Amino acid sequence: MAKNIIMHTLSFISASGGVGKTTFAILTAGALAARGKRVLLIDLDSSATATLWTVKNVEENCDIKTLMKELLDYRLGRTRNIRDVKQCLHKHKVRGLDAVFYILPGGNLNDLTMEIFSTPKWEILLDELIAPIKEDFDYIIVDSPNWLYPHFPMVVMFTPFYIALTRPGGPEREKTALLLDRIFAMLKRHFSIPEPEKYVAVLLNQIRTTKVADIEREWNTLYKTLAERYPGITVIRNDKADYYYGEVQTPFYGFKLRNDLGAEEYQKSGHPLKSNNKAIKAQFTAYMESLTEFIKANAPYQVE
Ligand SMILES: Nc1ncnc2c1ncn2[C@@H]1O[C@H](COP(=O)(O)OP(=O)(O)OP(=O)(O)O)[C@@H](O)[C@H]1O
Ligand SMILES: [Mg+2]
Repeated sequence: MAKNIIMHTLSFISASGGVGKTTFAILTAGALAARGKRVLLIDLDSSATATLWTVKNVEENCDIKTLMKELLDYRLGRTRNIRDVKQCLHKHKVRGLDAVFYILPGGNLNDLTMEIFSTPKWEILLDELIAPIKEDFDYIIVDSPNWLYPHFPMVVMFTPFYIALTRPGGPEREKTALLLDRIFAMLKRHFSIPEPEKYVAVLLNQIRTTKVADIEREWNTLYKTLAERYPGITVIRNDKADYYYGEVQTPFYGFKLRNDLGAEEYQKSGHPLKSNNKAIKAQFTAYMESLTEFIKANAPYQVE
């Protein structure tokens, strides 16, 4: 009988910096928590921005770096005891919604590079670190470091699903394709997954144009470019028509770049699902619907 695992792990990744990984990792965690899901956000970015935005007082020596250091010491027989990861989790009250999620604070893993790389099977260290608490959650969300960062393969070994953030324009599209090449190569090599593109959803963010025809063209070009290379890939779009981009009803193609959307706005005014702005609320609702569908359709395990 197929094992019924209902825990999902998704990583937010991007080819360039500043495309919205941290923002959407936090907002997605919040939206899932609001649906009653048990959610953990792992801040794997060395700059620890997600932690900064969601945790008031981070205890010193209780973040991903110190926990990883303890695990390495344990593996090398330098210590017999390792702390329970639970001790370092912080509860975050989702702003504007009646929900909470947990966050494992980030730390500078770069300080441990030498030690990590001299450990056998270092790619599975994150998996090992989180294993004791995996079953406590329905969703684990990873705010991933830059893909050029040496520990990035740890993210690939840890997650079945990826949300790849991208923004309009040819150069970003090409960079995203290169990022996907790298991930698919890793997935094929380590897991012998025949169709790794099934596990990636690309999300268009920071759309600047207000012209619907341009937004549509941008989405179509992105889809065509990626689907030609990787048939079976998902580029998030929701055909439920709404006023996402102004006066005309259209499908949802991605997020607009707006002053009233983004991590700072979340801090100030709360979650987009509670936004007074109808377009923002509609965009986020459509995105969550498409994301859920993507997971259901492509989960490598049975989903309830
Ligand atoms: N659709 C949007 N509209 C307005 N602001 C946005 C939008 N998406 C992201 N931002 C803003 O862009 C900035 C960069 O976003 P964020 O920090 O989430 O990106 P990142 O990919 O995590 O960056 P890094 O590579 O530095 O980790 C933030 O100030 C965020 O609030
Ligand atoms: Mg970030």
